[in-house]
Amino acid sequence: MVEFALPANSKIGTGKAWPKAADAAKTKTFKVYRWNPDDGENPKVDTFEVDLENCGPMVLDALIKIKNEIDPTLTFRRSCREGVCGSCAMNIDGTNTLACTKYLSEIDGEVKVYPLPHMPVVKDLVPDLTQVYAQYASIEPWLKSETPAPERERPQSPEERAKLDGLWECILCFSCSTSCPSYWWNGDRYLGPAILLQAYRWIADSRDEATGERLDQLEDPFRLYRCHTIMNCTKTCPQSLNPAKAIAEIKKLMVERKG
Ligand code: SF4
Ligand code: FES
Repeated sequence: MVEFALPANSKIGTGKAWPKAADAAKTKTFKVYRWNPDDGENPKVDTFEVDLENCGPMVLDALIKIKNEIDPTLTFRRSCREGVCGSCAMNIDGTNTLACTKYLSEIDGEVKVYPLPHMPVVKDLVPDLTQVYAQYASIEPWLKSETPAPERERPQSPEERAKLDGLWECILCFSCSTSCPSYWWNGDRYLGPAILLQAYRWIADSRDEATGERLDQLEDPFRLYRCHTIMNCTKTCPQSLNPAKAIAEIKKLMVERKG
């Protein structure tokens, strides 16, 4: 029988409300998703009051302050703190984005912080990226060429190089893939916008000689064609890239090579 209800262990409860510091002058309320795989309990949403007078301007600054000063068990990923590593991607105020480049001043009222949607959670705000990295490996994201390597670099004209703009800037944060309903429901077989943008980055590279092989690998009702041009990916990308356009370019090449 088809089960339409959510499994009991996925229901989110009310968590702990941490008191604000006695000397806090200007506070902002944070509602933060918590889940610990070791305690056997359902996920909860904890409430924190963060003193903005002693906090940096970004959501990540507030999360680090919570971890340093209120609850050291709060778990999240971050590395560069400047929008280049992609590790701090999470759902903030209802949108997938980077905590390190999201200004607190852009959020009215409470700040709601959840992990990237529809991914297994390792703990708190940390999604399990095992599957998506396996999908990344499947598109063989490296230069493939039968031509013997030249003594110096493989030349590209400025026009050929320009075709990679809008692609190389992807930081693999997966905000796009985890905003995509097609990826939510078919993420085991559909590659999703992040991986397809990466696939196109190599297809579009004039130095790569495996275009036919790469297109063959994507010619599949699920891997590529589960994209239904919903456009959430492009709307949410914190780097202002356009994964939907990259996917459309791949589909165009599929049609052209049949013609
Ligand atoms: S296309 Fe944008 S949202 Fe998607 S993984 Fe790359 S940087 Fe992140
Ligand atoms: S910490 Fe590197 S992108 Fe946010």
